[in-house]
Parts: sequence; structure tokens; C-alpha cells
Amino acid sequence: MTFATLDDAELQGRRALVRVDFNVPMADGEVSDDTRLRAAVPTIEKLRAGGAKVVLLAHFDRPKGKFVPAMSLAPIAPALAKVLGHPVAFAPDCVGKDAAEAVAALKPGDVLLLENVRFYPGEESNDAAFARALAENGDLYVNDAFSAAHRAHASTEGLAHLLPAYAGEQMRLELTALDKALGRPERPVLGIVGGSKVSSKLDLLRNLVTKLDKLAIGGGMANTFLYAQGHDVGASYCEKEMAETAREIIRLAGQNNCKLFLPLDIVVAEKMAPGAPARIRSLGAVDEHERILDAGPETVERLNRAMDNSKTLIWNGPLGVFEMPPFDKGTVGAAHHAAELAKAGKLVAVAGGGDTVAALNHAGCAEDFTFVSTAGGAFLEWMEGKELPGVAALSKQNKR
Ligand code: 3PG
Repeated sequence: MTFATLDDAELQGRRALVRVDFNVPMADGEVSDDTRLRAAVPTIEKLRAGGAKVVLLAHFDRPKGKFVPAMSLAPIAPALAKVLGHPVAFAPDCVGKDAAEAVAALKPGDVLLLENVRFYPGEESNDAAFARALAENGDLYVNDAFSAAHRAHASTEGLAHLLPAYAGEQMRLELTALDKALGRPERPVLGIVGGSKVSSKLDLLRNLVTKLDKLAIGGGMANTFLYAQGHDVGASYCEKEMAETAREIIRLAGQNNCKLFLPLDIVVAEKMAPGAPARIRSLGAVDEHERILDAGPETVERLNRAMDNSKTLIWNGPLGVFEMPPFDKGTVGAAHHAAELAKAGKLVAVAGGGDTVAALNHAGCAEDFTFVSTAGGAFLEWMEGKELPGVAALSKQNKR
């Protein structure tokens, strides 16, 4: 896919309507993780440097088309001003008179954040009239919200058809990194998929076994695979009804020459609690009261050797209950190894999706990965091989 980027845009004095993803974690009314705010800075800076008036559109949470004061974007404006080192104005509406007046007051280089687009039902229904009302405040449209690009909403999709549309810098970074990891990767390419449920990652597993050379399965979902192969999993979390599906994925991997790595050994405990006494066990040697909570040392060692012999790694989901040490050892051990290889330029290591970023931050090595996506659901859908509407609408071929 090819996109118009900000390098192609005439910016001086023009109103740039920029879709960002400011759906950030908050605690006590304050932004508790500003990763997504920082991710928007390169685009905002580039637009300011070019003399554009920057008008930011974003959603927060799921207000379902109604004005919900607790879901206002108002607290985001000062938090963004802090990371930007520049004032950010705020308008209490994203369309209509309040928005128009705030936009009219902008001078080149100014930055304005409009209120939550999801306060209007037309956002999620991608209503044409609502998209046109949004478009009134811009001369050009920039989509910098890869992490919301799996939504076909007015501000993520509809607008791209109404104004000259460009991919922002974060969008460009995400697409380039993901293409490098799965679109056109340097081979061999290894995947790690963890997390608890096979059922929520079925499409992903089915797609990955057709694309990757090797795939390691970890986390709670590995229990389902072990059970499907006849191993006792004791009191572990396990989707027993998915056993046949797990066997189907094992078969599919074989047919596609994708080498599947299931755990070789496991870490078990009687209680899932921080600091609970942990034991290393071989497969199947699990007592009926014990739960599998992490990958064992042999499993991690084999995974690390597989990384040594790969050129590309794509990682989604932790290998164990990393939030509760000592059950973080598997995830942390593998994360450090991937980070070292990436830092040494020996491995393209790309990670993303919800828990994964938290797990890499916990391991303290997210910075050394080649790329860590800011996306949750969008990263998963992209790994499933699905077309993301927000990305498709930006593609030059799709321009109406
Ligand atoms: C996210 O946080 O993953 C995106 O902002 C999308 O949010 P949504 O799942 O509410 O559409």
C-alpha cells in the first residue's frame, strides 16, 4: 500500500485535522501512561514546523454517543502541553459553533484539542453528515491513530474520503515496522503468541502458521495445547473445549512448514498469588491442585536459541503470569534475550498488543526492541491478516 505522507502536503496556514489516539490510562483524573501522547508529538511538531494550524481529534473510552463528563478529553490538553512543551487549547465540542470558533482563533503553529468525538453517535456509525461536520474544521486530514485504525468510524475512516488525506508520522512508523515484521520480513521469522485464551486468538494463530517459519505458544493458551496432546494440566486454566481446535492448528502448522514450539517444561504453583512457592515440572507431572503459571527454564532456553537463529521476531502476549513474580521469569528471560539481540542489530524484534507492552515494560527492555506498537486491538487484527479500515482509507489506490 502506498500513502501520502506529510512530506507531500502543503501546510503553511492550513488547518490540519489530525486523528490521534489519546485513549490513555488515567488514574485520579491524571494521565498515568503518556506513551500515546508522546507518540503524537512528531506529527504535531512537523505540522507546526510547516506552519499548519493543528486541530486534534480523538476519542476517550466508550461513551456510546452521549456526553459523559467523566470521559471528557479536557484533562488531556494540559498533559499533552507538558510533553509537547507548547500550549494546547481545548474546545468543549468537536463540531458546531464552539469547535468552529476555537479553530477560527488559531494562528499557524497553534495546537487545539477538540472534545471526544464519541460523544456523538455519528462517530461510531460513520455517519456521513457527522463526518462532513468534522471536515468543516480542516483543509487536510491526517490520520496518526494506527491503534484506532481497526474502527471504521467517521474520524478514522469517513474523513479520509472528504479531505486530502495523509498518514501521520506515528502511523507511518507503525506501518513500516509491521510490514518489516510480517508483510515482508527477513527470514527466518519467529512468532511468540502468549496470553490466556486460544478462543480469542484463533484467527491470529491460523494466520500466523501460514506466514511464519516458527511459532512459540506460551501463556495460558499453551495449557490448552498441552491438554490437546494428552498431558495432564492439573487445576490450570485450560479451554478443554478448544482441544480439537488446538490440534487443527498443530496440523495446519505442519502443512505450512511452520515449526511449532510448545512448552518443554513448566512452572507450577498451588496458588496464583505473588510470591507463591513455585516448582519446575516436566510436562504432565502436574498435581491435581497445581496450576501452570509460567514457562520453564528449558522452554525459555530453547526459545532464546530459536531467536538466535531467526532474523525477525514478532511477539504478542506474555509467556506466564508476569504480573505476579516469580511467574514473570519466563517472559522476562525471553524479553531480555530478544532485546539484547535487537540492540546488537541481530534481530528485528517487533512487539505489540495490550499486555505485551506492559510485560516488556515490566521486564524493563521495551526501549531496546526494534519497535513496540502503541496498538492493542488494531495490532491483533493486523496480525490476523485483516484489512484495517483506517489504513485502507488512506491508501492511494482506495481514493475515490
Ligand atoms: C485502543 O485503546 O485500543 C483504541 O483506542 C481503540 O479503542 P476502542 O477499543 O474503544 O475502539
